Amino acid sequence: MKKPISGFSKLSKLEKIEWLIKNSFSSNNNIKNILHQYCNDNLKLQKLHDEFAENTLSNFYLPFTIAPNFLINNKCYTIPMVTEESSVVAAASKAAKFWLDKGGFKAEVISTTKIGQVHFMYKGDVDTLNEYFKNIKHKLFSDVDSLTTNMNKRGGGIKDIKLINLNDQIKNYFQLKATFDTRDAMGANFINSCLEQFSQTLKYNFEDSSRIEIIMSILSNYVPECIVRAEVSCSIKELSDASIANPISFAKNFVRAVNIAEIDKYRAVTHNKGIMNGIDAVVIATGNDFRAVESAAHAYASKSGSYKSLTRAHIQHDIFNFSIEIPLALGTVGGLTKLHPLANLALEILDSPNAKDLMKITAVAGLAQNFAAIKSLITTGIQHGHMKMHLINMLNQHEVSDDEKDKAINHFKTNTVSHLNVDVFITKLRSND
Ligand code: MEV
Repeated sequence: MKKPISGFSKLSKLEKIEWLIKNSFSSNNNIKNILHQYCNDNLKLQKLHDEFAENTLSNFYLPFTIAPNFLINNKCYTIPMVTEESSVVAAASKAAKFWLDKGGFKAEVISTTKIGQVHFMYKGDVDTLNEYFKNIKHKLFSDVDSLTTNMNKRGGGIKDIKLINLNDQIKNYFQLKATFDTRDAMGANFINSCLEQFSQTLKYNFEDSSRIEIIMSILSNYVPECIVRAEVSCSIKELSDASIANPISFAKNFVRAVNIAEIDKYRAVTHNKGIMNGIDAVVIATGNDFRAVESAAHAYASKSGSYKSLTRAHIQHDIFNFSIEIPLALGTVGGLTKLHPLANLALEILDSPNAKDLMKITAVAGLAQNFAAIKSLITTGIQHGHMKMHLINMLNQHEVSDDEKDKAINHFKTNTVSHLNVDVFITKLRSND
């Protein structure tokens, strides 16, 4: 059992590593080296990364990749993607190429409102509270002037504040529910700072402040009014390619596959996971908060009361249409977006988009990923492409030479990739040598 330690965060990086080795490993075997290998020689850059979190010992690499040829609203983009899943970028690139000569992707932002709440208890007459809220509303706005001035100048700010009575669900429970426009910032810090000031204004201007008990003030990551829509469409006959022999049955099966994810939650979760393969990769590459995006997306997928697909597909008058509607609270300023050199670079690769443009690009990456997954699933099967990409990981586990790698890739062009088959092939190859 590990021994507890106090004051750990105050130790130097080296002291933390030494403590870790002593407490978590039976021997000092190479641990310092592994951690050191992933540190940057540029000390200033390493310090920047160290300070993103507490108790940083090293860096954890993920591939920084790009998927070219994304035609979105008639503009061609190269999309940066950060992911560890071997087939994701290949799939995105294939989908981008597929739609390139069919008019590409169309995307539009439907809404950009974000929400924050002050949760509080109130013991007293409800009419008095309603009246008090009416009188104090202007002060709730004016008390955050110093926080909102810059955001107002950029055209954003607080849109509205409402008093919500939830007494019937939890006795004495109320909320201030505020709506915000945070322009190009994701806005979490801005929203939370405003909310904390609202809670002070609310409590300390009431005639008897002991009647109001603030529970917490925090933004909501559920953003059903911060929505982007993206779609592709073409005539069914344009759908043919090397893996689509019969475009009509392809289109019909594609729609069926999406409909299955509408009615069956086991399929819907995997279907949406595939969408998030594309979305998260762009969200991480651009320094945005993928946990916030994930939780909002899955809550939105359940908005009807049961968990459903985030994409839709239909055929109308021989036109195939495939679309996504998803909440995406993204920023192109603030947070890590400009601070992390690779996130900054990712935004430059995207031609320095504003938040709305980034919402469109990210939704397209999700739609493209879902298109590629369903296309594989209903034609060749997913393992064909997936295992081909995963082959490299398996070969690397065998620490193959370049020559062995080439021979293996050639062999598995016509043979089934599996762990056993790769083991057998490498063993045979090495025993022949
Ligand atoms: C794998 O990461 C994602 C897929 O399972 C998505 C899907 O099934 O639609 C291929």
